[in-house]
Amino acid sequence: MNVLVINGSLRSKGNSDLLCDEFIRGAEETGHSVEKISLREWDIHPCRACYACFRTGRCVQQDDMAAILQKAEKSDVLVLATPTYFLTMSGQMKVFIDRLLPMWQGLGGKDAYVIVTGHDGKQGLKRNADDLAMILENLGDRVRQIVWGEHVWQKGEVLGTKAMEEAYLAGKSVGC
Ligand SMILES: Cc1cc2nc3c(=O)[nH]c(=O)nc-3n(C[C@H](O)[C@H](O)[C@H](O)COP(=O)(O)O)c2cc1C
Repeated sequence: MNVLVINGSLRSKGNSDLLCDEFIRGAEETGHSVEKISLREWDIHPCRACYACFRTGRCVQQDDMAAILQKAEKSDVLVLATPTYFLTMSGQMKVFIDRLLPMWQGLGGKDAYVIVTGHDGKQGLKRNADDLAMILENLGDRVRQIVWGEHVWQKGEVLGTKAMEEAYLAGKSVGC
């Protein structure tokens, strides 16, 4: 299967990134083909709400989002990973989500996973995870698992926590 991992964290080798990599390790070991997109490395502007995409099927903005939408459309499995910022997803992830508008009816039928991180416990990360899970379900995807990177603040703190194993096993479960 083709797996697309979208990471909305601002930190390279941060906690979300490390969990993505564990997920990818599990999925690749099981024979799947995985691509990771770190949104911080891509030029994605906010949706302008012009609704031109409702007529034409594409966004008027000339940035990197069209390329990501193509990859998302071709993928069988979508993974959305984000740190928790003020109880919900990072700004980068939200901008990305809004720009799904041209294809909001074309990304359904996929298996999906959510990876969230934050200094809070599960209860504090729940709003963030629920928001992403509901967005994926609205697109018509099936959320198979949420990976909880709880109680992590500084870069790399997730190493050695049970979330790393959860992420690896979630990757292993792709296609099962
Ligand atoms: C602007 C900002 C807001 C944050 N808000 C929360 C929050 O509401 N709840 C929480 O648990 N952690 C919060 N955090 C902590 C981050 O979620 C945590 O450091 C996370 O591990 C960062 O992930 P990363 O290493 O992938 O960047 C916040 C961090 C920043 C920078």
